[in-house]
This record gives sequence, C-alpha cells and structure tokens, in this order.
Amino acid sequence: MVIWDNVMEVHIESIDVQHRTLVALINELQNVIDNGGPQVMVGSVLSKVIDYTNFHFEHEENCLIVGCYTRFKEHQCIHNEISQKLKQLEREYLNGIPGVAPRVLELLQRWAMEHIMKTDQLYSKQLVNAGLQ
Ligand SMILES: [Fe+2]
Repeated sequence: MVIWDNVMEVHIESIDVQHRTLVALINELQNVIDNGGPQVMVGSVLSKVIDYTNFHFEHEENCLIVGCYTRFKEHQCIHNEISQKLKQLEREYLNGIPGVAPRVLELLQRWAMEHIMKTDQLYSKQLVNAGLQ
C-alpha cells in the first residue's frame, strides 16, 4: 500500500488532489490483485488507473507550461517514459499475457514514491512562486 504523506504535497491544489486520487487508485489495484478479484475487475481497475495517470500527466504538464518551469522538457520525458511503459503493459494485458497487473502495480507504486516525492518536488517552489496554487 502507498500511504499518503504530507511531504508528497507540491502545494498546487489541483495537482495534490490528483496525486491523492492516483494513490487511492494504485491502492485499489493492489486490493483487487491481493483479493484475487475476477479478471474483469482487475482489467477495469487497471484501465482506470492507466487512464487517470495519463490524464494527470497532461494536467501537470499544462501547469508546468503555465508556470514556465525551466526543466519542463526533462519532466515531460520522464512522464513519456512511464506512459510508454504503461501503454506497452496495457497492450500485453489485452493480449492475454498473464501477470501484467502486478507489473503495472509495481511500476506505479515505484513511480508514486519516487516521482511524486522527488521529481515533482523540484517544480513545486518555482510554480508556487509563479503564482500557481
Ligand atoms: Fe510529474
């Protein structure tokens, strides 16, 4: 389980709300996997969490543009890399390859901890100073 911690906040409300939602969705995926939920349920949570991640990246990138974030390209590259991996995993899942859901979970759990706590913190101050809230 990913436990939300206030140090994960970037102090821009819309982004913090989305990060919390993402953590909740990641934990939902963990629950459905741990409880051996039916395949159709795993699939539905899986696509929900992947769609939401992409939606969130788009929103976050828009905020970075508005705030003229100096390391935008670098940040966008990291998002693209995660998106590509998720797209590949989703394709594998749809092709019936077994064991995909736990790999998505592992990727997202790692991302939530590292990306939100480290990489996203790098833009926080700059965006807040640029007036985003
Ligand atoms: Fe990010």
